[in-house]
Amino acid sequence: MNLALTNKVVLITGANGGIGQAISLAFIQEGATLLAGYRGDVSKLDELKSMLTADQQNQVKPIHLDLGNIAQCKVAIDEAVDHFGAIDVLVNCAGTAIEKPFLLTEFDEIDKQTTANFTAPIKLTQLVLKHMMLNRKGSVINVSSVHGFRFGRGVAVYAANKSAIERFTQALALEVGRNGIRVNAVCPGMIETKMIQSLQKNMPPDILKRCPISRPGKPHEIANAVLFLASETMSSYITGTTLVVDGGISI
Ligand SMILES: NC(=O)c1ccc[n+]([C@@H]2O[C@H](COP(=O)([O-])OP(=O)(O)OC[C@H]3O[C@@H](n4cnc5c(N)ncnc54)[C@H](OP(=O)(O)O)[C@@H]3O)[C@@H](O)[C@H]2O)c1
Repeated sequence: MNLALTNKVVLITGANGGIGQAISLAFIQEGATLLAGYRGDVSKLDELKSMLTADQQNQVKPIHLDLGNIAQCKVAIDEAVDHFGAIDVLVNCAGTAIEKPFLLTEFDEIDKQTTANFTAPIKLTQLVLKHMMLNRKGSVINVSSVHGFRFGRGVAVYAANKSAIERFTQALALEVGRNGIRVNAVCPGMIETKMIQSLQKNMPPDILKRCPISRPGKPHEIANAVLFLASETMSSYITGTTLVVDGGISI
């Protein structure tokens, strides 16, 4: 199957996370150049790099993207575009969830989640879109969550953020389709990563019985959906949609 992603420049946030790492690996295996967003120390990308051959390691360009500092993200993105000439695909993958009853949620916890899950991704999209518009092509993929439309207790802020990023995905797709840019979302269900371990303590013990496929998902199963939406050969007529990858848990 030719996904035509070889030499495409892909920017991803949270490249060291459970799902981000799987998406990063998948793009690298397809021959893309990966601008691997991380926050804090660049050694966070060591695990990803350890999975790659020497040639593949050359495809990875670490880029410091702390979503709490959008001014610094702007500088990093402008430098990357100067260097690589374009960004073909943006994957807004970084995100955070703090599980707590809403009344006990501190304002700074609301701000932290809303920044990482919604306001920073949309600002980052604007920064990258300016360059995509000049090239009249590009694909933006937002990682949302089944919590965006099927709610659970203790995640009101996260659920609202993910719902908002899905509505943003649709509204932006409408605005930029004529410029050759597609905007879609991938919506994971329960995927085996650190994030789900932290949320699991308050989940009903029989949660997997609600899942027709009867198991949690693997990060590479989300990565496959992202590759599909990034590939012009596979999804050139798909925009403004949310691809739910949840083993049917949201049915
Ligand atoms: N796992 C699931 O079941 C599930 C389900 C639905 C949706 N999702 C979504 O999938 C995405 C990836 O989640 P995951 O499960 O892979 O979680 P994860 O393993 O905890 O990874 C989260 C990633 O986001 C980064 N991040 C968080 N806040 C950031 C900030 N302010 N600036 C920059 N980077 C930040 C983290 O960086 P650090 O390493 O520096 O913290 C990490 O790389 C998220 O958007 C999440 O909401 C996950």
